Amino acid sequence: MTESMKGLHRTHRCTEVSNRLIGETVTVMGWVQKRRNLGGMIFIDLRDRSGILQLVFDENDCGAEGFAKAATLRSEFVVAVVGRVEARSGAVNPNLATGDIEIRAREIRILSQSETPPFPIEDGINTREELRLKYRYLDLRRPELQKNLILRSRIANLSRQFMAEEGFIEIETPMLGRSTPEGARDYLVPSRVHPGTFYALPQSPQLFKQLLMVSGYDRYFQIARCFRDEDLRADRQPDFTQMDMELSFVDEEDVMDVNERLLAYLFKEILNVEIQLPLPRMPWREAMDRFGSDKPDIRFGMELKNVSELVKDCGFGVFTGALAAGGSVRGINVPGQGKMPRKKIDALTDMAKGMGAKGLAYVCVGCGENGAHKSPFAKFMKPEEMEALIAALDGKPGDLLLFAADKDSIVFNVLGSLRLEMAERLGLLHKDDFHFLWVTEFPQFEYSEEEGRYVAMHHPFTMPMEEDIDLLESDPGAVRARAYDIVLNGNEIGGGSIRIHQDDVQEKMFRALGFTDESAHEQFGFLLEAFKYGVPPHGGLAYGLDRLAMLMAGADSIRDVIAFPKAKDASCLMTEAPGTVDAKQLAELHIRCED
Ligand code: AMO
Ligand code: AMP
Repeated sequence: MTESMKGLHRTHRCTEVSNRLIGETVTVMGWVQKRRNLGGMIFIDLRDRSGILQLVFDENDCGAEGFAKAATLRSEFVVAVVGRVEARSGAVNPNLATGDIEIRAREIRILSQSETPPFPIEDGINTREELRLKYRYLDLRRPELQKNLILRSRIANLSRQFMAEEGFIEIETPMLGRSTPEGARDYLVPSRVHPGTFYALPQSPQLFKQLLMVSGYDRYFQIARCFRDEDLRADRQPDFTQMDMELSFVDEEDVMDVNERLLAYLFKEILNVEIQLPLPRMPWREAMDRFGSDKPDIRFGMELKNVSELVKDCGFGVFTGALAAGGSVRGINVPGQGKMPRKKIDALTDMAKGMGAKGLAYVCVGCGENGAHKSPFAKFMKPEEMEALIAALDGKPGDLLLFAADKDSIVFNVLGSLRLEMAERLGLLHKDDFHFLWVTEFPQFEYSEEEGRYVAMHHPFTMPMEEDIDLLESDPGAVRARAYDIVLNGNEIGGGSIRIHQDDVQEKMFRALGFTDESAHEQFGFLLEAFKYGVPPHGGLAYGLDRLAMLMAGADSIRDVIAFPKAKDASCLMTEAPGTVDAKQLAELHIRCED
């Protein structure tokens, strides 16, 4: 039996009731967290998005009927209760915002009943994520997820406010468009009206925001949904949200400046964390050399050391072989881990192999008998070579040195990942320690083995560094871009660039990317055309809002800051999207499925 709330108005959320209201009558509404019967009284913990409030039912106050109703309450029933605020009769609960008060109920209405939920509605449950996603509406009732979504809402609100005050205009760009050259696979939408043609959902508003600069809007901002059909990870979703901006008449200093102030503002307002400005910067090359990553986590050291020069004439074929093949030998020092059991080192070796390495060479400094070094390749090295190698990594007795010998890309990947893995194991990654870093001077191009040509690392409209423009034809691999990523604790939370606004540079760029004039025009004709009519120098940046929210919330996955995320296979476990559609719908769209 459920009742109407007619005639009742909620006066307070649960934790808006405080000891300042003692003696007053309030009306609260929410979900039953739990019921306890105790000494002729019934205690209910009532929950809403603000928190928990204790209700007390005593037949003398709420009557026999009210008491009987209270006795039927079970978890997740929705109730409305009118009662008087009183100081707690029992022990004060210091863990609750409302721990020193309770509501002595006078009237109760059961607004809705509930079946037993498939998992408890509370924090810290270890329910399988699949089950949580299937019943996402219940998962979202849990305080930790509510806190995350409220924090996310604050990021969006405060950013809008900040950007408006900085003179940015919020403009929406279409969801149904043509594919943007952002690199990932598109989600396509068939056109009913134009048989055989497709819209693409935007991977980002990139081309539109550049066109808005041509149109004179000068400073644009948008919180934009973006779609990329790529393999999912903890920090990737097929549909995700960017906080996107573009500015005219600027260089990278202007873009960085406004973004540093935005970040400092958000962290101060939301987390009360002071961010020291200006934020540090590091060229891409240095980030790779020192951290093996283009998004270095600089909360801890354990930096990579290049020992190629030291080992080039040593007797260990693995090292000299890699160097002869044009690769490098680099290592990291994991302090104090020299006593790691062989089994665990083998597991690290397997990790390295999983990333394409042929093996992992190691030295346990001074961990053998009589302080000898334990290392499978010690026998190939002269003692003085080994000492020099250890010294290069600043190895002290008890340290574990890990070396990778291969082509640079593998060495960086292996050591960059092991560095993070070891930091995690050593407890060096503190979530409330926020270290930002701008990574700059990205390569303009990366060579795609798959396509057998250079592809744009950021996108084809990114301006090369002035001093490298002449290399566009002769040595594309060496060209650096005026692109920057903003990295927080090892996560790329945003990226952007200064764009090309001159025809001749854009033409060179397209040629380096292997476009013919026709193919460039076919894909980006409207942009090239627009640029004929007076284009201001411009640049911009986009944040992954989900990633920023994840880090600010201290969450482990972006799924924990997205209301209705997709599972790892890009499906929605709740609605069961994607789903099949009627033959009629397909026919209208001129689509035939082969099955
Ligand atoms: P970029 O491709 O670097 O740049 O994207 C900007 C930021 O968006 C986030 N991001 C994602 N977040 C969740 N799931 C995904 N699948 C995903 N892909 C990207 C990242 C990333 O830093 N138009 C340019 C920006 C510009 O040049 O102004 C762009 O889209 O945090
Ligand atoms: P092997 O001579 O192949 O038995 O290798 C001797 C040691 O070097 C083993 O510990 C391997 O894991 C390690 N090793 C093999 N290849 C590499 C490599 N490319 N980089 C680093 N260590 C390697």
